Amino acid sequence: MAKQTAFKLDESIFDIAPFMKEDSSIEPSFTTSLGALFSADCMAVLPQIRDEVVDTVFADPPFNLGKEYGKSYDDLRSDDYYLQWCKDWITECVRTIKPGGAFFLYNLPKWNILLGAYLTELGMEFRHWIAIEISACLPIPGRLHPSHYSSTGGGG
Ligand SMILES: C[S@@+](CC[C@H](N)C(=O)[O-])C[C@H]1O[C@@H](n2cnc3c(N)ncnc32)[C@H](O)[C@@H]1O
Repeated sequence: MAKQTAFKLDESIFDIAPFMKEDSSIEPSFTTSLGALFSADCMAVLPQIRDEVVDTVFADPPFNLGKEYGKSYDDLRSDDYYLQWCKDWITECVRTIKPGGAFFLYNLPKWNILLGAYLTELGMEFRHWIAIEISACLPIPGRLHPSHYSSTGGGG
């Protein structure tokens, strides 16, 4: 059997400067030639990104189902609180997307109906509703779950 060649990362460093506002102070946790990874609250990172520099946003936020995400995050808020929190980071994401860029928002249909409408309000053009069948892998055993999860897609 042929030996697998070792994966080697290109040692050149991804330059985040063209993507970040001039007064940005936040630093990525990990960088390769392919990109930069930030490990921080999304609302500490997104406002520091320039307008219209992003090609694609894919968001997989907590779904407000009462899952455990560590002490700093409460995943069982009121509907109003959760929707406003989502709208805050969605607004920042849309600001950063280039004209013609794409936004994939993964969430429960319950939330994506409302948040998809919000994306339209922000000027994104609805493109697709992608349904993901999940009955083989319930996220929380013993709980009711939606017949599918969804990704609503918009274009800038
Ligand atoms: C539905 S999970 C997504 C899991 C991810 N797709 C994965 O496979 O690890 C939601 C994620 O959002 C993170 N999260 C929660 N609040 C956040 C915040 N304010 N800023 C950034 N990430 C957050 C959680 O820690 C969790 O990893």
